[in-house]
Amino acid sequence: MALYSEKVMDHFLHPRNVGVIEDADAVGEVGNAKCGDIMKMYLKIRDDIVEDVKFETFGCGSAIASSSMATEMIKGKPLSEVKNLTNKAVTEALDGLPAHKIHCSVLAEEAIHSALEDYYSRQENAHGN
Ligand code: FES
Repeated sequence: MALYSEKVMDHFLHPRNVGVIEDADAVGEVGNAKCGDIMKMYLKIRDDIVEDVKFETFGCGSAIASSSMATEMIKGKPLSEVKNLTNKAVTEALDGLPAHKIHCSVLAEEAIHSALEDYYSRQENAHGN
């Protein structure tokens, strides 16, 4: 059996939504201290919906595939759904990852949650003024 599913290979070789959103409403950045990989997520949010999302991942193939899949899963979705996205859902959507690569999908979950935190703290600041 191949180590990586066809979906993982497809998203690794042809990642969706790669790049930067210059005027993003939220940015999340996380890293894994052990492997040194870094993932950055940019969100454009309108009326509590993820209108656009882009990512930059300086990391392994599984991290790139996980970020690509995660962006596809949250694009066009309400924040109430986005906040519940788990690495398990991302892994399942990729038809699985090898056990020692599960932490790569955790980065995608954490990057999105970090972006949401950034979004809510910007909202608080905007309303606090
Ligand atoms: Fe660290 Fe994949 S090896 S994110």
